Amino acid sequence: MTTAPDTPWQHRYRTPSDTARAANPVIDALLDHRSVRRYLTTPLPENTLATLVAAAQSASSSSNLQAWSVLAVQDPPRKARLSAIASDQEHIRQAPLFLVWLADFSRAQRIADTRAIELQAPAYLDSLLLGSIDAALAAQNAVVAAESLGLGTVYIGALRNNVQAVIDELQLPPLVFPVFGLCVGYPDPQAPAAIKPRLGQDVVLHHETYQVDDAEPQRIAAYEQVAADFSREQGQVSGKWGEQVVQRLRDKGSLHGREILAEVLRKQGLGLY
Ligand SMILES: Cc1cc2nc3c(=O)[nH]c(=O)nc-3n(C[C@H](O)[C@H](O)[C@H](O)COP(=O)(O)O)c2cc1C
Repeated sequence: MTTAPDTPWQHRYRTPSDTARAANPVIDALLDHRSVRRYLTTPLPENTLATLVAAAQSASSSSNLQAWSVLAVQDPPRKARLSAIASDQEHIRQAPLFLVWLADFSRAQRIADTRAIELQAPAYLDSLLLGSIDAALAAQNAVVAAESLGLGTVYIGALRNNVQAVIDELQLPPLVFPVFGLCVGYPDPQAPAAIKPRLGQDVVLHHETYQVDDAEPQRIAAYEQVAADFSREQGQVSGKWGEQVVQRLRDKGSLHGREILAEVLRKQGLGLY
């Protein structure tokens, strides 16, 4: 007989054992993460935004360039327009706060302008990565902070389905790229989100060099079983996880407009070389 998962670790891996980890409230909070897609209309306390931004700004930043910004959207009509851009995701309209995380070299250029210098490095692919990594690390800190305050979040990569429309809506200057959005709000207790299981550590963790052994397919099949059980518990019908991976990546159709991202980025002066 299998016992129902109890601790966040057991939910995350669907394994009866959770003895392999150090335990403390921070680790428990991290393991307890789940994306939230149903929100109450309850407004956020006044100091929430400043708290989330302080957590975000406390993340590491490459060369301390702080090559990111965040744009807070609370105006319902603007949230509705952004939702329309992002495959009409209802939770963008519902959440009281929608944060758009930006890779941002425009501030650095404004600083350089005062010295009459044209920055050359932002146009290179590495800078786009740098700004996007900075923005992602900052956003994830904000997510952890939000969850610690009893708030829920969900990232919105679908903003990149039409980056030009996002740039126009938010009046983003050159050298700025919207990496993703983030809904923030109080989770609706009528639609509780669950901890979604992940691949076993023996699939994602390599030691010293990248090694794939013959047991990888069985390990992935074991995860597919766990993922199927999870979907069933959530009342969802979904194909095998491996099939979803292949379908999501097999051709550019699944990019839903993101296949022209390089073109839009070039117009922003990013990712040119
Ligand atoms: C960069 C990024 C973009 C995402 N975009 C979306 C999105 O547009 N819509 C959505 O509902 N979830 C989105 N997600 C949430 C993922 O679907 C979710 O994190 C994943 O299914 C794992 O579930 P969990 O976060 O509950 O553990 C995104 C996640 C990330 C990291």
